[in-house]
Amino acid sequence: MLITNIGVLVGSDGGDTLFLRGKEMSTIGLIENAWLRTEKDRFSAFGSMDSCPEAEPGELCIDAKGGYIFPAFCDSHTHIVYAGSREREFIDKINGLSYEEIAKRGGGILNSADLLHETPEKELYRQAMTRVHEIMAMGTGCVEIKSGYGLTTADEMKMLRVIKRIAESTPLKVKATFLGAHAVGRAYSGRQGEYVDLVCKEMIPAVAAEGLADFVDVFCDTGFFTIEETDRILEAGARYGLRPKIHANELAVSGGVQVGVAHKALSVDHLERIGEEEIEILAAGQTVATMLPGASFFLGMPYGPARKAIDSGAIVALASDYNPGSSPSGNMRMVMSLGCIKMKMTPAEAINATTINGAYAMNESRDYGSIAPGKIASFYLTKPMSSLDFFPYAYATPLISRVWLKGREVEA
Ligand code: NIG
Ligand code: FE
Repeated sequence: MLITNIGVLVGSDGGDTLFLRGKEMSTIGLIENAWLRTEKDRFSAFGSMDSCPEAEPGELCIDAKGGYIFPAFCDSHTHIVYAGSREREFIDKINGLSYEEIAKRGGGILNSADLLHETPEKELYRQAMTRVHEIMAMGTGCVEIKSGYGLTTADEMKMLRVIKRIAESTPLKVKATFLGAHAVGRAYSGRQGEYVDLVCKEMIPAVAAEGLADFVDVFCDTGFFTIEETDRILEAGARYGLRPKIHANELAVSGGVQVGVAHKALSVDHLERIGEEEIEILAAGQTVATMLPGASFFLGMPYGPARKAIDSGAIVALASDYNPGSSPSGNMRMVMSLGCIKMKMTPAEAINATTINGAYAMNESRDYGSIAPGKIASFYLTKPMSSLDFFPYAYATPLISRVWLKGREVEA
């Protein structure tokens, strides 16, 4: 396929860059008035319109008349497999109820776990697929999906099988994360230590035996899982080759960053409450600092200190956290704009944080996250825009006109 008359955002270093840290995040390669060619599911070449090749006989040729081609979003933190929804809590929050009061009324993660338990696997897949179609249409091409609304071995496996089926039935690239330690399952109420044993000794081996997860996650925060418990779970995961991507420092300065980095986590996520010490650790290492501004927006929490983390040299990614409780949206454009508006990231930094660095946070940046010959052709085309900066600026204008994932056009 040949697309002409476009602005193309190209990866730096011919696509060899696996992530961008600190100042490098402000680099964006852009060729205005360009062409782009894909062959099967990969990008093959691009260049300036002065040197535009002739279309091959039978080759699909699209004149884009001045839009921009962006690499598909890489959303490295979601919980999009869940049953039902939780707008009841939304109203409770408007009426001033606290998270604890909501939980007492049957809200929160355990509410989603009850609903998921009652929902047959086929129906869970059907419900998740409506969200999958929604995020594909909004330009997401590579996504991480977590379990964590099962909280029993059988229900965690059910969620992970649904994630596998999404991977097999769509042109999305999907990475699966086992998050058995999202909350203590109801049957183990008051017996958190035993629940952690179940996660380590039964769930992780069962998940690994069926090859259902790429990564392991723990909600390491005050009121959820402690540093010691996180340490045990990550160690158990490592025995089965599961690299950590953990929830840390959302509710308190939890020590989550330190335990994640000590276990060579691919990323530590949330980070609304990190200080100098955590920023220094992240700036010195290769663990991605993933921030989730959609959750801050929805819950009215502080935003993660992305500006400071970038200025200190960290690898910063932005992700949607799409889930029924704290971020009921997978709109990565909105996430990008929140990065600019609320976290003072430049458009270039926010683009890199939602593409190449998100891909690296899923260990997929060899194939995803930028436009370069040989990488997977997952991308979208915008309507004509006055400049690249218009995209995060006009945050609610529908600007994405067409989307291709793995070289195939999907409904935008
Ligand atoms: O990433 N922080 C933990 N888990 C989710 C919220 C889960 C829920 O409320 O359903 C999050 O924000
Ligand atoms: Fe999350």
